[in-house]
Amino acid sequence: MMVKKVATAILSYILSVSCYAASEVGVPLLDADVDVSNTVSLQRGARLFVNYCVSCHSAEYMRYNRMAEDLGLDPELVKDNLMFAADKIGDTMTIAMRSDDSEQWFGVKPPDLSVISRSKGVNYLYSFLNGFYLDSTRPTGVNNIYYPNTAMPHVLWDLQGFAKKTDDGQIFVPEDSRGDMTVIEYQQATRDLVTFLDYLGEPAKLVRYKIGFWVISFLLVLFVITCLLRREYWRDVH
Ligand code: HEC
Repeated sequence: MMVKKVATAILSYILSVSCYAASEVGVPLLDADVDVSNTVSLQRGARLFVNYCVSCHSAEYMRYNRMAEDLGLDPELVKDNLMFAADKIGDTMTIAMRSDDSEQWFGVKPPDLSVISRSKGVNYLYSFLNGFYLDSTRPTGVNNIYYPNTAMPHVLWDLQGFAKKTDDGQIFVPEDSRGDMTVIEYQQATRDLVTFLDYLGEPAKLVRYKIGFWVISFLLVLFVITCLLRREYWRDVH
């Protein structure tokens, strides 16, 4: 009985911790539901990242050629389509903007995004990218429910459009201010972006997942063999 009680207590603790993950301002976070083993999602995320983010943010620990290799992309295609800021395939993802310029424009230096997924968590990043809404009191014209008064503009507005905030704190994109994407498409695009940020934070994860599969398979086979052996050894004893 006691064991059962302890187990229930531990389980409900784990559930409460994982279910009530909230942003720093106490708004419950959205579920990013990312899968770094999904190469197509990673490739789409990489494209969005270089098109929409590296104009202000760097990813100084990532080299273009490493990304090409990890994501199964042809280095020539990466060079032609995905590289704007850097000129050589072996370069890291630095930005076009000088950091003192950006500080002057935004008041804050846009952080390097190499390991942001580890410091902030994927659910926060996904929520943040889905949290922009119109706010005429802000210099950028937008605010964010997960990071109030952020200095970052809504850079994906042409994809999402501009959301409005209702009185009960929900945000939605009205029909007449939609961008190029539907609600579902925008959610998928931001999920792809966060998948890419998750990979940036730990590129070795891709290798770890692949090795992990074989290690678990090996252990399972070993388990079956051990069980058979055990039966064999004990046969004479019984
Ligand atoms: C026009 C410049 C600009 C572009 C483009 C831009 N950002 Fe930002 N970003 C900023 C600034 C400025 C900040 C600092 C905001 C603050 O601390 O108030 C920031 C902060 C962030 C943060 C940190 C938020 C936090 O909680 O500290 C994340 C994550 C982020 N940006 C992701 C992105 C992604 C992903 C893209 C591409 C889709 C992107 N940014 C494109 C300017 C930009």
